[in-house]
Amino acid sequence: MWKKILGYSYNLTSLTGILLAGAGTALIVIFLAIGIISGLENPYLGILIYFVFPGILVLGLFLIPLGILLTRKRMQREGRTEVPLYPILDLNDRRQRLKAVFFIVATIFFLLLLAVASIKGYDYTESTEFCGKLCHTVMEPEYVAWSGSPHARVRCAECHIGPGAEWFVKAKLSGLKQVYRVLTNTYPAPIETPIPNLRPARDTCEGCHWPAKFYSGKQKIFYHYASDEKNTLREINLLLNLGTTPKTPHASGIHWHVGSEVFYIARDAKRQDIPYVAVKGKDGKITEYHDTDKPLNQTEINKKGTRLMDCIDCHNRPSHIFHSPGKEIDESFVSGTIDSSLPFFRKIAIEILSKDYKTTAEAKAAIASGIRGYYAETYPDLTKTRAPAIERAITEVQQIYQRNFFPTMKVAWNTHADNIGHFYFPGCFRCHDGKHRSADGKVISKDCTICHEVLDQKQENIAPGTKVSGFVHPIDIGDEVETTGCYECHQAGAM
Ligand code: HEC
Ligand code: HEC
Ligand code: HEC
Ligand code: HEC
Ligand code: HEC
Ligand code: HEC
Repeated sequence: MWKKILGYSYNLTSLTGILLAGAGTALIVIFLAIGIISGLENPYLGILIYFVFPGILVLGLFLIPLGILLTRKRMQREGRTEVPLYPILDLNDRRQRLKAVFFIVATIFFLLLLAVASIKGYDYTESTEFCGKLCHTVMEPEYVAWSGSPHARVRCAECHIGPGAEWFVKAKLSGLKQVYRVLTNTYPAPIETPIPNLRPARDTCEGCHWPAKFYSGKQKIFYHYASDEKNTLREINLLLNLGTTPKTPHASGIHWHVGSEVFYIARDAKRQDIPYVAVKGKDGKITEYHDTDKPLNQTEINKKGTRLMDCIDCHNRPSHIFHSPGKEIDESFVSGTIDSSLPFFRKIAIEILSKDYKTTAEAKAAIASGIRGYYAETYPDLTKTRAPAIERAITEVQQIYQRNFFPTMKVAWNTHADNIGHFYFPGCFRCHDGKHRSADGKVISKDCTICHEVLDQKQENIAPGTKVSGFVHPIDIGDEVETTGCYECHQAGAM
């Protein structure tokens, strides 16, 4: 009977195809339903629903006609029957009519199912689950940092791929290579930056932040605490002179670079050592600035080729922001997550966080025993009276470790330099060090006031209520405030 109903498709290849297509369909429907009902967002479930099951379905649909074709060929060869090239369809025959209707309905059903699977599959490969969680070891540092960043609601793909077909294809091709490197365990740890062929920031960032709407200023308060017994609060209230583009009244300021054409050459792959900068003026005239300490010669300049400065040359960590141990403890104090009345807490926590650990488990154990041990020895009565505060603080310090140190990927908070500012990394001072000079004597300024104004400062060495006229360093370091880059003393991350 089956032979009669199935006709030519009654052969091993087509039967296998029918089975596979049926199984693929059933699996897609069942797992989609499970996903919808349970609300589960599991990256592996996505791989199955959108790639593996539709793959089975398509293979099945391909095998059915293949089997039919092969059968007809064989029958023709054997000369068994006169086999016409196309099936003869007689819609007056009830049986054939039913078969035709079944065929059309089934085709539409499968096409719809595949369309849904591929649209959802496309969405899925752009989702943060896919990018951030599927290869969780490899992407863990970036995923964790992204989750706590100002861009936590912006999907990875919006910065890494952006709109348009060309970059979509490029991204999927390089994605295949990445999958291969993960499967064969040949990925680099840490992942190297700058990403060599990152899509130009103007195509991605400017989808949401277009320069014409930049504000001209931004007030920001920086909190620090001294590493003394009292964890004394120090406060710097800065007005950052952001500025906007040349088309607006506030044309000067930090975002001046965006409206202008600034080119530079870096000596190193990380773009931290910049001996040459060139600015193209509105009149087309080029002003070249050379690092007076260690300039490049003309042949090196010609050979290296320049890079046009864009958002990423300052905002290279807009989303994958790691914090130094010092900054993390300061933020935990100011937000009250850690009780700042625990004596010497900042000093001891930073000492423990600054050591090297092979695994996260080892670090967490060392944090717990280190902090408990310190108070048991130095302040034994606090161990009894303040036990809950100490335990809460331990948990928080363990989380600080987990947000900023990833031993498996060999990533720590300072693995990738952050180019905003100049406190822990050279950042703006890569060019604004007062040593980049043009032939006619112009200097890329290090004057503190071109970028920001100190509105207020609270510190042990400033009498309460005093208005400061410029930044006052908490300890006297003489003229080093002006002559030495802040990062040269501060890069360890403890203060
Ligand atoms: C706001 C934009 C933005 C978002 C959102 C974003 N990234 Fe990035 N990401 C960047 C930029 C810019 C760089 C380039 C850093 C460089 O070249 O120095 C980068 C670099 C990276 C790197 C290279 C290593 C590193 O730490 O710099 C990885 C890996 C990465 N991103 C993964 C992700 C993943 C996974 C997500 C989503 C969970 C994501 N990114 C979301 C902007 C973004
Ligand atoms: C899909 C939209 C989107 C894209 C693309 C995007 N951002 Fe953002 N960005 C946001 C949102 C939303 C915020 C948070 C705004 C707020 O807090 O007011 C933000 C905040 C910021 C901030 C302020 C952060 C802070 O500390 O408050 C900076 C700087 C920034 N983005 C830079 C970038 C850069 C550089 C890129 C490109 C690599 C980029 N953004 C791409 C949406 C986007
Ligand atoms: C010369 C370095 C530099 C360049 C180039 C640059 N920015 Fe900025 N941008 C800054 C600094 C510094 C800040 C203030 C940082 C902070 O908030 O701590 C800032 C702040 C911002 C903010 C936050 C504004 C707010 O009100 O919070 C956004 C958004 C932003 N930039 C986007 C961009 C985009 C998009 C580009 C590229 C078109 C760009 N920036 C290019 C240095 C730069
Ligand atoms: C690649 C080199 C380079 C880097 C990095 C750089 N700048 Fe600049 N910046 C320049 C040059 C060149 C000028 C123009 C100097 C001139 O012609 O007077 C300039 C000018 C400025 C001005 C004055 C603009 C005006 O005319 O009002 C400000 C403010 C500024 N930069 C802030 C920053 C900040 C903040 C950072 C770091 C986030 C930074 N720059 C990083 C090269 C750089
Ligand atoms: C080329 C621009 C530029 C120059 C010149 C500059 N700064 Fe800054 N500075 C910045 C930016 C941008 C930030 C904000 C960084 C951030 O948002 O994290 C900053 C942050 C700071 C902070 C707060 C740092 C923190 O983490 O607490 C202090 C203090 C400071 N600057 C002092 C100075 C002093 C003193 C000078 C002069 C010797 C100076 N700056 C010169 C751009 C500049
Ligand atoms: C010669 C080395 C040196 C230089 C250069 C230097 N600092 Fe410091 N800075 C220190 C030391 C040491 C401390 C710790 C003081 C203390 O807590 O007793 C400190 C503390 C600070 C603090 C308080 C931090 C905290 O955690 O309590 C701020 C803010 C600061 N420096 C800003 C700057 C800025 C901005 C610059 C650059 C304009 C700079 N420093 C340059 C050595 C330096």
